[in-house]
Amino acid sequence: MLIANVSPRTMAKTTDTAWLAHALAEDEEQYEVEGFDADHSKQFYNWGKEEKGDFQFPVHLAASAQFHKEVVPPTGKSIGMVDCGHAENHPHITDSVLRVADLVILHMSPTGADWERIVEPPDATPFMDILKRSAPLRATKRMPTTWVLLNRTVANASSTGYYREEMAKEGYDVFTTVIPRSELFGQSLGFPILDARKTAFGALVTEMKMRGLLPVTKQKEQEAK
Ligand SMILES: Nc1ncnc2c1ncn2[C@@H]1O[C@H](COP(=O)(O)OP(=O)(O)OP(=O)(O)O)[C@@H](O)[C@H]1O
Ligand SMILES: [Mg+2]
Repeated sequence: MLIANVSPRTMAKTTDTAWLAHALAEDEEQYEVEGFDADHSKQFYNWGKEEKGDFQFPVHLAASAQFHKEVVPPTGKSIGMVDCGHAENHPHITDSVLRVADLVILHMSPTGADWERIVEPPDATPFMDILKRSAPLRATKRMPTTWVLLNRTVANASSTGYYREEMAKEGYDVFTTVIPRSELFGQSLGFPILDARKTAFGALVTEMKMRGLLPVTKQKEQEAK
């Protein structure tokens, strides 16, 4: 499957994508992860290099408006993690990725600024419209399953619950798991990622499995016993 990590502008996508990719690779389901950097800034790709993050999975350069023709979506327990660029500035690449994505994660912080750029951007297409316009171009003829991941949250701040509600009102599903604001994540670009499964990203993988968003066999084995 292909997971498209998207946002209209800078909203912590690359950080979340790299950590989630590691949490998937560390999971008991032993997902085989492959990265696709669909952003011209190449930050996901460069982070994965041996002298930097030394990722134990490949990251391919894939900032192309022909993504849907050039990338073969992995199958089974192989998961392609796509880090997209700004949908506002590179809509053609985002449109192409959305044609073949099995799951979309929309990354945002619980702030009015991020909400506005997603829901009511003054100079771009609202993100829900971008998702909807992908439908006729997809094999399923339906827009991809999409979940919002709130990041850079602050413990006990009312903003987390407030923007969860606001996004739900706009028709989005929002993960219960949130990614807290922290130096561990904020300073991680360019360095190895260790024990991702022990962080909020591990909890996110558990939630994704629970919601049927990821292929699972271990759970089924347990249930069969
Ligand atoms: N959980 C976090 N806590 C604190 N800071 C964070 C966290 N996640 C990301 N950041 C910081 O937020 C900023 C934006 O993150 P990042 O580069 O991952 O966003 P992006 O959406 O990929 O941006 P772009 O689309 O411009 O590439 C960076 O300075 C990053 O270090
Ligand atoms: Mg980025």
